Amino acid sequence: MKVSTYKLLAGFLFVFFFYHCQACPRYKFVVKEAPYTRLCSSKNILTVNGQFPGPTLYVNKGDTIVVDVYNRGNYNITIHWHGVKQPRNPWSDGPEYITQCPIQPGAKFRQKIIFTTEEGTLWWHAHSTWLRATVHGALIIYPKMGTRYPFPKPDVEIPIILGEWWQEDIMQVYLDLERYGGLGVTSDAYLINGQPGDLYPCSKPETLRLKVKRSLTYLFRIVNAILIDGIFFTVANHTVTVIGSDASYLKPFNRTFICLTPGQTVDVLLEANQSPNHYYMAASVYTTATLPGSYNNSTTTAIVEYNGNYTPSSPPVFPYLPEYHDTEASVNFTASLRSLADKEYPIDVPMEINTHLFYTISLGSPCKNNSCPGIIFEVCLFFIN
Ligand SMILES: *[C@@H]1O[C@H](CO)[C@@H](O)[C@H](O)[C@H]1NC(C)=O
Ligand SMILES: *[C@@H]1O[C@H](CO)[C@@H](O)[C@H](O)[C@H]1NC(C)=O
Ligand SMILES: *[C@@H]1O[C@H](CO)[C@@H](O)[C@H](O)[C@H]1NC(C)=O
Ligand SMILES: *[C@@H]1O[C@H](CO)[C@@H](O)[C@H](O)[C@H]1NC(C)=O
Ligand SMILES: *[C@@H]1O[C@H](CO)[C@@H](O)[C@H](O)[C@H]1NC(C)=O
Ligand SMILES: *[C@@H]1O[C@H](CO)[C@@H](O)[C@H](O)[C@H]1NC(C)=O
Ligand SMILES: *[C@@H]1O[C@H](CO)[C@@H](O)[C@H](O)[C@H]1NC(C)=O
Repeated sequence: MKVSTYKLLAGFLFVFFFYHCQACPRYKFVVKEAPYTRLCSSKNILTVNGQFPGPTLYVNKGDTIVVDVYNRGNYNITIHWHGVKQPRNPWSDGPEYITQCPIQPGAKFRQKIIFTTEEGTLWWHAHSTWLRATVHGALIIYPKMGTRYPFPKPDVEIPIILGEWWQEDIMQVYLDLERYGGLGVTSDAYLINGQPGDLYPCSKPETLRLKVKRSLTYLFRIVNAILIDGIFFTVANHTVTVIGSDASYLKPFNRTFICLTPGQTVDVLLEANQSPNHYYMAASVYTTATLPGSYNNSTTTAIVEYNGNYTPSSPPVFPYLPEYHDTEASVNFTASLRSLADKEYPIDVPMEINTHLFYTISLGSPCKNNSCPGIIFEVCLFFIN
């Protein structure tokens, strides 16, 4: 009798502690509006803790963390941990109405995030309507304590979040999209860590300037937080070594530019090995859409500035970026990703294929002769087979 009471109590305590996770690192996310000025005008945007991009979370592989989300905004919202597998824990994973109800204005929700095999860079974002346009941030997953990166330890690590800015209220953009279909109004700028860069109006003073020291190695943890576009990214006159994507390490390879699909993360090493100068870091869209207005072909920039006494080029050295429709460049990059697949970082994919499935995915409109009122493609539908 005594033993089973003990067992019961122990079991209860285990469940209690496991569920409430007393020892887990805790974070507080307050979803609220904050004023931001970009492209010569100001508006309120939805943020986490007033920050845009939102706070970066740092964990170690295998950690469990708890995030208390307080919704002080005006819309239902959820927060999703993009790429975190969350085994047997879908209850606070984010996608609204799939694994949880949205958090209503004024409400609070405790989310537990269980990291398992992920190691590298991921991100978190709102998973309700298009609120993720401004409600997002990086998730950095270090190796377990006592283990190391499978590449030489970089001297400095920098999260780089590629985002997007609309002059219009993002909720209005979303409601129009819901009513009329199409791809929605194109954003007015792409952003590097929240800034459009000095090629955009009223943006020069706040352009991101990254001071680097010659001979040091920088790990850029790059997140494509843009809603629906792929993006090319480069640093003038530098070759980067690609070492990870979506929280998996890769067989390293060198590139003068990279290409990220929406939602993808790519980790690269940049050795500051060029002559001291100012170099543009730049990003521009990759899209298969060809209609004018359905993409923005301008270039967003930041500036990599070497330390030292010298007279920098003015303007900074400008890089080569592929054209917006350079599918070969995009596919070449994606097709070059190879997992480490070694003893320390094994992969488990089925090697024997029994059935081949053939899918055709396309986009169309039920309206003839532009008779629908929608933006860009009129009302559009997606088709599978
Ligand atoms: C907000 O979420 C609740 C459920 O959590 C739902 O009942 C309500 O309809 C949602 N409101 C909107 C505007 O979507
Ligand atoms: C950058 O690369 C270009 C083309 O290779 C070269 O002409 C230029 O001198 C380089 N600039 C610097 C500052 O190294
Ligand atoms: C890749 O670039 C790094 C640093 O720029 C260099 O040390 C390395 O030799 C390059 N690797 C290859 C295969 O070219
Ligand atoms: C692209 O961005 C620029 C700068 O903000 C803006 O002037 C232009 O209208 C945008 N183009 C499209 C097609 O939206
Ligand atoms: C961007 O598009 C405009 C109009 O569609 C075109 O005039 C301009 O040359 C393009 N710019 C670049 C850098 O491709
Ligand atoms: C990508 O392009 C490089 C350089 O042009 C080429 O050597 C490589 O074979 C290409 N890789 C793929 C996967 O197409
Ligand atoms: C669509 O336009 C074509 C040519 O302009 C015309 O021949 C056809 O009758 C139109 N169809 C409808 C459904 O209006």
